[in-house]
Amino acid sequence: TQGAQVLVASNRGPVSYTVEDDGSLRARRGGGGLVSGLSAIGPDAGALWVCSVLSDGDREAVRRGVGEDGVRMLDVPADVHADAYNGIANSVLWFVHHMLYQTPLEPVFDAEFRRQWASYEAYNRAFAEALAEEAARGAAVLVQDYHLTLVPGMLRELRPDLRIAHFSHTPWAPPEYFAMLPDDIARQVLRGMLGADRLGFLTHRWADAFTACCERFAGGLGDTRVGVHGLGADADFLRARSHEADVEERITTLREEIGEGRRAIVRVDRTELSKNIVRGLLAYRQLLDDRPEWRERVVHVAFAYPSRQDLAVYRDYTAEVRRLADEINERYGTPGWRPVVLHVKDDFARSLAAYRLADVALVNPIRDGMNLVAKEVPVVSDAGCALVLSREAGAHEELGEDALTVNPYDVVETARALDEALRMAPGERAERTKRLAAAATALPPERWFLEQLEALRDGPVSR
Ligand code: G6P
Repeated sequence: TQGAQVLVASNRGPVSYTVEDDGSLRARRGGGGLVSGLSAIGPDAGALWVCSVLSDGDREAVRRGVGEDGVRMLDVPADVHADAYNGIANSVLWFVHHMLYQTPLEPVFDAEFRRQWASYEAYNRAFAEALAEEAARGAAVLVQDYHLTLVPGMLRELRPDLRIAHFSHTPWAPPEYFAMLPDDIARQVLRGMLGADRLGFLTHRWADAFTACCERFAGGLGDTRVGVHGLGADADFLRARSHEADVEERITTLREEIGEGRRAIVRVDRTELSKNIVRGLLAYRQLLDDRPEWRERVVHVAFAYPSRQDLAVYRDYTAEVRRLADEINERYGTPGWRPVVLHVKDDFARSLAAYRLADVALVNPIRDGMNLVAKEVPVVSDAGCALVLSREAGAHEELGEDALTVNPYDVVETARALDEALRMAPGERAERTKRLAAAATALPPERWFLEQLEALRDGPVSR
C-alpha cells in the first residue's frame, strides 16, 4: 500500500472494546469533537487514526486482530502506558496546565518521576514509529494533546517529508507556572512540540501562554506557526440525537426526579478536579441559605461521570462530591424534595435530556481548555437556558457576553449568579440562548478539523 494521506494520533481513540461475559468483544464508539471531526475525512479518503490500547478489552481486540478500518491501536505495554498516562500526562502535564497543584507539598520531581518520564518518552516513540510507518510521502499528521508532546519532534527526525501539526485541547500554563517543571523536561516538551510545522490551541490565551513559554525556555518559536481554532459544538448531530427515543425516555424520568414545577440547575462533567464540582455544590448550598425562597422550588441536577479513577486524587474528589451532595440533601431535603440529584454513571442520552430541560447550566471550571458543555447546552435547550460560566473556561472567550460570568473560586458570587440566572425573564433567556447557540456553533467539529488540515497543507514547507 501507499500509506495514509491524513493521520491523526491521540491517546484515546474513537473506539474501545470490552470483553463480554461470553468472551465476545463489544465495540463502543466514543463521541466527542475529534471523532465527529475525523468522520469528515474517514478511512475512504485514506485517513488513519493511530491511538493507544486503554483497557484489557482493547488489548484483546488487538490480539484477535479485531479492529475498524481507519483505526490502528498501538499495543503499548500496560506498565509503560500507566506511567505515561497516569504518571506523567494526567498527574504532571495536566496538573501544570490546569494549575492544580497544592504547591506547598506538590509537585516533587524525584527519581520516580524520572523513571516515569522514560516511559512517557517510550510511549511517544511508539506513536512516532507507527506514524512514520503508516504515512504516505508528504502526508499530513495531526497529533493531539498533552499525552503526545514529544511525537512531532521524534516524527520529524524519522520522516522529514511529512507535514506535522499538534493540537492542545487543554489550557497552556503561563511561564511562571510552567517553570515548575525541571528545566530539561520543560525544554524537551517545548522542543518536542516545536518539531511540528503548526501548533493549534483552543483560544488566544493558551496560544499566547505557549509562545511566552517558548520565549523563556526554548529561544522562541523558530519556524513553527501557531494558530487558534476554537472547537465548536456539532449542532446537526446534537439536535437530532437529543430527540431520539432514548433521550425522550430519560426526559420522563428526569422530570420525575426534578418534580413538577421546579427549576433545574444542570451541570454535566467528568469527575475532574478542574471542573470545580465541589465549589459548585457549595455555591448551590449558599443559594439555599441566602435565598430560602428557592427551597423546594429548585433542584441541582449534577452528572459527574467517572474519570481517571486509577488516580487516588480523582477517587477522593469523587467521594467528596458524593459526600457533599448527600450532606446538602440531608440538611435541606424534605419528604417531597431532593435538592441535589447526583448521578455518577456515564449516560450520554441522560446528559442530553438534562440539557434539554435545564433552566440554568452551571459551568464553573477553575481552568478549562474550552468546555464543550457550555457550547452544547444552548444548542439543545428546549426553552432557553441561562448559562453561569467561569471566566477561566476557554469557552468564555466566545460566550462571555451572553453568559453570567463568575470567578470559579468565589462561591458567594456564584450563588448570586445562580439566583440571577433563575430569575432571568424567559424572553431574555431565550434571546441569550439563541446568541449563545450561534457563537457555540461557529466552528463545528468537521470545519475545525478541515481548517487545520488546510492550514497545514497550504503553509510553507518549513524544513
Ligand atoms: C480532556 C483531554 C482529552 C481526554 C479527555 C478525557 O478533554 O484533552 O485528551 O481524552 O479529557 O480524559 P481521558 O483521560 O479519559 O482520556
